[in-house]
Order: sequence, then structure tokens, then C-alpha cells
Amino acid sequence: MRVKLVAGNWKMNGSLASSQALLKAILPSLAALDRARVAVCAPYPYLAAVGQGVRGSNVLLGAQDLCQFDDGAYTGAVSGAMLADCGCRYVIVGHSERRTVFGEADDVVALKYAQALKHGLTPILCVGEVLAEREAAVTEKVVARQLDAVVTRCGVEALGRGVVAYEPVWAIGTGKTATPQQAQDVHATIRGRVGAGDRKVAEALTILYGGSVKASNAAQLFAMPDVDGGLIGGASLVAEEFVAICHAAQGAKETART
Ligand code: 13P
Repeated sequence: MRVKLVAGNWKMNGSLASSQALLKAILPSLAALDRARVAVCAPYPYLAAVGQGVRGSNVLLGAQDLCQFDDGAYTGAVSGAMLADCGCRYVIVGHSERRTVFGEADDVVALKYAQALKHGLTPILCVGEVLAEREAAVTEKVVARQLDAVVTRCGVEALGRGVVAYEPVWAIGTGKTATPQQAQDVHATIRGRVGAGDRKVAEALTILYGGSVKASNAAQLFAMPDVDGGLIGGASLVAEEFVAICHAAQGAKETART
């Protein structure tokens, strides 16, 4: 049985009080899930409190970024060791907002991926094209470059110890979702590319879709054979939406991969 993963990316939103209220609203409705694993990726200052809040529940804690270096003189940065210490199990790496707003290049993302693994965290590696790249029909090329940077530094087996999230940048926070078929096509391409390096790693790889996933479109997306769950931004901040998305993952039928 393939278990889907739904990860909420809260981004830079909320407060201590709203984070706790959100947990209080979602945790009871997620307690019975056994075909969907759920994680919430909170802002750094709230990790400890959110970690406390999810303790004893089946929701796992994640962070949204980490430093590419080990502990040391890196003012303002947060290391993988610190995240593990706070109880994080997941960490998002190479989110498009990190790549575009903060100028993170592929090689920095690959270093971060390696750091996450070194500290026992499961990296969620984000890949995806901007609108101009989709229109120029270079989606595959862009996603391959982003994946290859990690494979070159860490090896293909390392991908098997993480999660890949396909997030077309034009679909993030825009309300424009990729169609289930568009998502499936890119997910199959990702699995194929990883499979060229290691078939077993590719078959077991969890590939999430992210970009305007909502309660109303989650089930169709999760029904696609290569969509193993979702990375949820805006809708993860709305309790009923997030719970419904997690239940859509729980209820998704397992379809054979081609
Ligand atoms: P939205 O769900 O708000 O489009 O954000 C997606 C995302 O960036 C998750 O990492």
C-alpha cells in the first residue's frame, strides 16, 4: 500500500496564537488517517511550540528551509542539527520562493539537501518551472536540471531518502492549478529520469504536487498514478480546507503506474 503524504507549508504566515489555534482545529480530524501521512512546515520561531502541539498526534513537524553549512559563524541562519533538535522530521529545500526571491542556485539547494540527510531530516526537494519556461516548452529541461544538481552532489540513492515536490511556479498562490494531467505528465517525467539512474529508487519515490491545491481539486490530483500527495500553501492555513485535502489523500485509490 502506498501512503500519500500531505505537507502544509505555512510560509511566513500566522502568529504563535494562530498556529496553536490551527493545530487545535485540525488534529482531532486527522487522528484516524492511516493511508495519508501529514506534516506541517512552520516558521522557525514557532517550531518548538508547534512541535509541542503535535506531540502524541500523527502529524509530523517540518521546517521550510535550512542552512547549507554545519553550525558556526553564519548569522541569521538555522542548521539542520538545530531543526532535528527541535523535533523536525521534514525540511523543505529549494522552494521556488527561496530560488527566485532569495537567489538560491541549484548547487546551494543540493548542499542543503545533503545537510538535511546528514541530520536525519527528510528533505522535500521542490522543483518546477516558471510561466515563461512552460510557454517555451522547457519544463522537462528545467526540472531535470534541478534534479540533476542534487543527484550529482548526493547520488541517486539520496533521492530515495527524500521527497520530490513538483511545484509549477505559475500555479503557486495564483489560484491557477496545473490540471491533473499536466501534473501527472511532469511527475512521470521526474520518475522516469530518476529511474534511468535507479529503477527501485524511482518506483518508491514520493512525488508531491504543489500549486493552488484546494479541497475542491485535491481528489482529482491525488487520483493520478504518479501523484503521491501534495505540498499545500494557502489552503494549509485554513483548517477545513487542509483537513479535507488530507482526507482526499486518505481516500485516493491506488492506481498502477505505467
Ligand atoms: P499554494 O498552495 O498557496 O499555491 O502554495 C504552494 C506552495 O508553494 C507550497 O509549497
